[in-house]
Amino acid sequence: MFSWSQSVDSLKVEQEKMQWFKDAKLGIFIHWGLYSVNGIDESWSFFNGYISHKDYLKQTKGFTAKNYNPVAWAELIKKSGAKYSVITSKHHDGFALWDTKYGNFNSVDAATSKKDILTPFVSALRKNNLKVGIYYSLPDWSYKDYTHFTRDSIRYNIQDKPKRWQNFLNYYQGQLKEISDNYNPDLYWFDGDWEHNSDEWEAPKVRKMLLDRNPNAILNSRLSEHGDYATPEQGMPITPPKSKYWELCMTMNDSWGYQKNDHNYKTTDQIIGIFTDVISNGGNLLLDIGPKGDGTIPKEQVKILEEFGEWTHKHKEAIYGTIGGIPKEHFYGPTTLSKDKTILYLFVKGNPKGEVVIRGLKNKINRIWVVGEGTKLAHKVVSKVYWSHYPGITYIQVPEYVLDNHMTVIALLLDGVIDLYREDGAVIESN
Ligand code: GLC
Repeated sequence: MFSWSQSVDSLKVEQEKMQWFKDAKLGIFIHWGLYSVNGIDESWSFFNGYISHKDYLKQTKGFTAKNYNPVAWAELIKKSGAKYSVITSKHHDGFALWDTKYGNFNSVDAATSKKDILTPFVSALRKNNLKVGIYYSLPDWSYKDYTHFTRDSIRYNIQDKPKRWQNFLNYYQGQLKEISDNYNPDLYWFDGDWEHNSDEWEAPKVRKMLLDRNPNAILNSRLSEHGDYATPEQGMPITPPKSKYWELCMTMNDSWGYQKNDHNYKTTDQIIGIFTDVISNGGNLLLDIGPKGDGTIPKEQVKILEEFGEWTHKHKEAIYGTIGGIPKEHFYGPTTLSKDKTILYLFVKGNPKGEVVIRGLKNKINRIWVVGEGTKLAHKVVSKVYWSHYPGITYIQVPEYVLDNHMTVIALLLDGVIDLYREDGAVIESN
């Protein structure tokens, strides 16, 4: 029976479980698999018929992982400022990166690598105090008892062959049990739920199974909505998303996996800009890298992670453990707030040429400083009139020498919890 106290309790449990995720702000996504060898679309290249399945499988030969260095990967991720990582344990092509007992299409039995990829990476993440996220594709287009094979070739319909579908359910849920036993992930990142509905996937059962094993595990929403947080993909939400917990997953160029011919990288500045928009709206960024078939991370991607890392470390107080910021009318840029809402962080792009403006701040400002740099800043309030509680416009003087090369962050220590003026201007007319 539903009771108010029960629902308050479950909200508390949810908040406690989600807290590390909410505080983390940045995760690194890793797409690594057979597709990294030729540098073609992950799984989709054969599904959509750009290459035959047979030729796609030939990439097992080139999947050597000979320069795979899980410790260096984890250290680079740490250096970027990320607090968690999500790696593809198995993409839609069905190629598993661990020693699964369910079939032999995996990096130990079916590829030149002949090794378990996940085990050493998971332990390197944990050694670096990073949370472990495992991406798992529900569809497995190579598996003999899965319904879909390619875009225009379906093996069977569930209605016609329920037993065959049951074989698949046993297979995929067995793999998930293995992942849970071997790695006890902090986060499961499902993908591909669009091919079947919740009943067909047995989504509630899978959720229950995983949470029975680890009540603190977080699930993304792509388990037919039986997850804990929303996953907008590529497109940065323009208006703040409705969901309490969300994560934007985004590529650095235009591809998830390694593609030699994709040079369309976002600049570090652009990535920082998108990241600050994300945290300003209360979300996380899951930024993707795509290692090559031999395990090398492309140098463009290493460079972005390193530059990004310098910036996140310098500005950590404005990032981690903060909450989303204030409405845009008050400041034309991204903002975050300390959890107790007494410090407001302003993210300033480029050179403001002297002044940064904030409107309608009712609080008194006790101190303003440049985050990660320390200089104290002066400010002046204009347009405040004695006959109205309209608080005026605050101009903060920002000398050029304090500016960060990528994005400057300014902290405002307020005299209490932030209080914003949301009424009309200083009204004088009587009604
Ligand atoms: C999509 C694609 C997939 C990619 C994923 C990452 O769902 O199917 O290839 O791995 O997005 O979010």
